[in-house]
Amino acid sequence: MTEAKLEAWLEETRSFPPSEEFAKQANAQPSIYEEAAADPIAYWRTQADRLTWTKAPTKTLEWDLPFAKWFSDGTLNASYNCVDRHVEAGKGDKVAYHWVGDAEGESRTITYGELQKMVAKAANALSELGVKSGDRVAVYMPMIPEAIVTMLAVVRLGAVHSVIFAGFSAESLSSRILDSDCQVVVTADGAFRRGAAAPLKPAVDEALKSCPNVRAVLVVQRTKGDVEWVEGRDHWWHDIVDKQADTHAPESFDAEHTMLIMYTSGTTAKPKGIFHTTGGYLTQAATTYYNIFDVKPDTDVCWTAADIGWITGHSYIVYGPLINGVTSVMYEGLPDSGGRDRWWRIIEENKVSILYTAPTTIRTLMKWGHQHPASKDLSSLRLLGTVGEPINPEAWMWYREHVGGNRCPIVDTWWQTETGAIMISPLPGITATKPGAAMKALPGIMVDVVDNEGNSVGNGEGGYLVVTHPWPSMTRGIYGDPERFKETYWARFPGLYFAGDGAKKDEDGDLWLLGRIDDVMNISGHRLSTTEVEHALVGYPAVAEAAVVGASDPTTGQAIVAFVTLKLSAEDAEKDQTATIEALRDHVAKVISPIAKPRQIILTPELPKTRSGKIMRRLLRDVAENRPLGDVTTLTDPTVVNSIADLMSKGDGTEE
Ligand code: PRX
Repeated sequence: MTEAKLEAWLEETRSFPPSEEFAKQANAQPSIYEEAAADPIAYWRTQADRLTWTKAPTKTLEWDLPFAKWFSDGTLNASYNCVDRHVEAGKGDKVAYHWVGDAEGESRTITYGELQKMVAKAANALSELGVKSGDRVAVYMPMIPEAIVTMLAVVRLGAVHSVIFAGFSAESLSSRILDSDCQVVVTADGAFRRGAAAPLKPAVDEALKSCPNVRAVLVVQRTKGDVEWVEGRDHWWHDIVDKQADTHAPESFDAEHTMLIMYTSGTTAKPKGIFHTTGGYLTQAATTYYNIFDVKPDTDVCWTAADIGWITGHSYIVYGPLINGVTSVMYEGLPDSGGRDRWWRIIEENKVSILYTAPTTIRTLMKWGHQHPASKDLSSLRLLGTVGEPINPEAWMWYREHVGGNRCPIVDTWWQTETGAIMISPLPGITATKPGAAMKALPGIMVDVVDNEGNSVGNGEGGYLVVTHPWPSMTRGIYGDPERFKETYWARFPGLYFAGDGAKKDEDGDLWLLGRIDDVMNISGHRLSTTEVEHALVGYPAVAEAAVVGASDPTTGQAIVAFVTLKLSAEDAEKDQTATIEALRDHVAKVISPIAKPRQIILTPELPKTRSGKIMRRLLRDVAENRPLGDVTTLTDPTVVNSIADLMSKGDGTEE
């Protein structure tokens, strides 16, 4: 569709009703909304029956705002629910994962029966390393099956996994290990990306210099590169896991037992350790996967194209699919490892029926051209999902037409690390979809859009997205910091969970997510705070001050733009400008991660400040997005911002 055609179409037809054919066979039928609305608590209690409980809960919700307990007198084992119970039900030969390696032709198929043995061995090995219930285990791994096996083995023992995205730097890794006092780290020698080996173990070695409490490191051999070895601390996976017994009796834990920590960026420099507990998290992961993705365990092949280092990977590569007993694809590489048609080949070869990914990836694939998806047989697809950032209607339409063949419903799913599972999404077969809208809160979930005073806005109006009632997979808090939990999410609008997102209700009352309204940026679906990047920049010896903003970007959604003043004299800075900018970019990659590298760094003699000395970020955002400048009268020196805008428009300091 051309842009003009698309615009005309959006004017006229604003929604796609579900097809009758899909509706007839859909897991979720319209009565689900009524059932949940009539008694949300009873609805969630029924959903908990998707799990196998050692002791079924008699309690559903205990709510002491903002602290919730769900199913608190029930007991269960998370790993048993994901794996063993399917084997016991006679499904041991069913494929749990088709793993697709970065390299052409490298693949592994793992059945539920095999997964059970792998998890048992890993659990026995972790026990041998002294891991027990309540301990925290850091997982810093590439996208290989052992990452999932580790997560399942950790929760099987009642321990807590803290998976740290393997793109994070040694410094980011050590601060996360220290914050939750992890004593064991599971990693790999390296990872493959577009055929090249990228070492991981050196970052662990570096990180652990400042983590004296880590007593054991378990290392999967993936790239077979040289690694430094600390005797007594480091253990090869193949030495210690392979020799273990392949059975392990799962113990039961309380529903409110902590099972995972996931660090995410907030508005401060220090990432927050969001933690989730067992019964509520698994219940909502299971329900959402079943209803939104409409999974049919006997026939579907599901591909959540995300990394296990993020919450999407946790809930929809690992827990949601496994609890539902489906077959998933796990892909190690980049979208173009082995060519720009790689994705479509994976779908064709594995007969993927359900695909879930982020708008930034869709835009990248779209940029490469529809000849790639057109050259492959994608007729196995029957449902598409998107997550992580607002999706622009053009990308949505491209996804529908060129990937979904105009027949697959698209579910635009809104949620967060903190919400644990999806909160707002169409239900395929029930909800008409609109390109760019996440549409409706799920059954049993209550959200609203409110104004500055916390009053619900009317249809056709925008405001702040809030959740008005507790939900099973809500975070139970910030690890070790209950006060920060209250302040961050519950203080802005008393009694309501403030998500940090702007949203609007359209004329029909359907929800459109508008992006973050705080200092959190969304770069290719990765969440980063402006303060975190500023903090990294001012940590560089030559930097005096830094201000960072997120500017809209056609591919990555947002991109980081940094405005920096140097301690050097202006003359010196002029001389070394390009080298300084490069050094600053590398410094940010080293301190946080390559994903945090600014797209553009503007070196300026001064930052625009008010007379009281506050940096005017609003103006910097205008500059970064090439908008006309807002009110500049409160600035000490209005010419500063004009010269910055000048540098910006010349493209100064932009990454090559
Ligand atoms: O701004 C929203 C955006 O991603 C943020 C949450 O990021 P994170 O915790 O990393 O989790 C991402 C994956 C669940 C939200 O505050 N976001 C997520 N999904 C959508 C979205 N924005 C618009 N539409 C979505 N579907």
